[in-house]
Amino acid sequence: MNAAPQPTPSITTLAPTSAPTSLTLTRPDDWHLHVRDGAAMAAVVPHTARQFGRAIIMPNLRPPVTSAAQAVAYGERIKACVPAGVTFTPLMTLYLTDNTPPEEIARAKAAGVVALKLYPAGATTNSDAGVTDIRKTYATLEAMQRAGLPLLVHCEVTDPSVDIFDREAVFIDEVMRPLRRDLPELKVVFEHITTQDAAQYVAQADAFTAATITAHHLLYNRNAIFTGGLRPHYYCLPVLKREVHRAALVKAATSGSPKFFLGTDSAPHAAHLKEHAAACAGCYTALSAMELYAQAFENAGALDKLEGFASFFGADFYGLARNPGTLTLKREAWTLPESVAFGDAQLKPLEGGATLNWKVV
Ligand code: DOR
Ligand code: ZN
Repeated sequence: MNAAPQPTPSITTLAPTSAPTSLTLTRPDDWHLHVRDGAAMAAVVPHTARQFGRAIIMPNLRPPVTSAAQAVAYGERIKACVPAGVTFTPLMTLYLTDNTPPEEIARAKAAGVVALKLYPAGATTNSDAGVTDIRKTYATLEAMQRAGLPLLVHCEVTDPSVDIFDREAVFIDEVMRPLRRDLPELKVVFEHITTQDAAQYVAQADAFTAATITAHHLLYNRNAIFTGGLRPHYYCLPVLKREVHRAALVKAATSGSPKFFLGTDSAPHAAHLKEHAAACAGCYTALSAMELYAQAFENAGALDKLEGFASFFGADFYGLARNPGTLTLKREAWTLPESVAFGDAQLKPLEGGATLNWKVV
């Protein structure tokens, strides 16, 4: 029998009376985003384009984006979904496999591809073509190091005997430390960190290592998945962790360290596949991304640190110019839609139906 319905986990705290009523930032970028393809993509790209100047586009399509030519074609399809009058640039990535030829790196660089993504095979959505053993990719990683192309890493081991809540911490010792030792000048982004272990590891690493942090990992701990029933919209990978880890991520994001920057990992799945016996992993946050980050920074009393995290540090790490223009958020209560069209299906944003305190204007 189900427990009585309970409110969704709350993200808001009361703003102090001296709190700012508006916030203007250099236009931010999203350094980790999934937009899918086809009609689903057409539904979600405008949400991101409205808030961000650029976004790093994840290559985990079916089949994955493994060549420079595919990345260029995918980038053109994304640009065709950007509403008229909106300036938004998708930054394209390749999906690293055991067989990515080192020669593809020069082609990628020439085509404007900005990074390669390493999914350990079987770690997450559409990762079955991923890397089975990182040592198989070393010739390609060496070419990336020479070309200055960053490696973006989904940092979880896939050994089913390792507890799912420990897979990120184990990855640091088993994969990340050897990788940093063997390729010290390869730029590496530890994507969507979820643990205190990862935050400490990245904070202590040299300037070739950085990390992205999602809004949902700043706002929720793993209780959110189990509050008043099983809540699949809070299920993503790497999965939400204990409160001590959430607190460590907030500390890292609001520290002012340029090693930590914004990456939503907004990952749309049709509602019927989220509300399913085997729910897909991924939280859809693009519709209210900056509102959620603003709330997380405000909860920590650190709104003054949001601009560096959202608008400066990612561009600096990738060696790209910061965006021209600004984005303004106002303190204004509004209700996030419960659901939006997603091709032939529906898409339920995280916190859909909730009242948010900040609004992008
Ligand atoms: O929750 C996730 N969703 N984590 C990932 O690594 C992939 C993503 C997706 O593509 O849905
Ligand atoms: Zn992702």
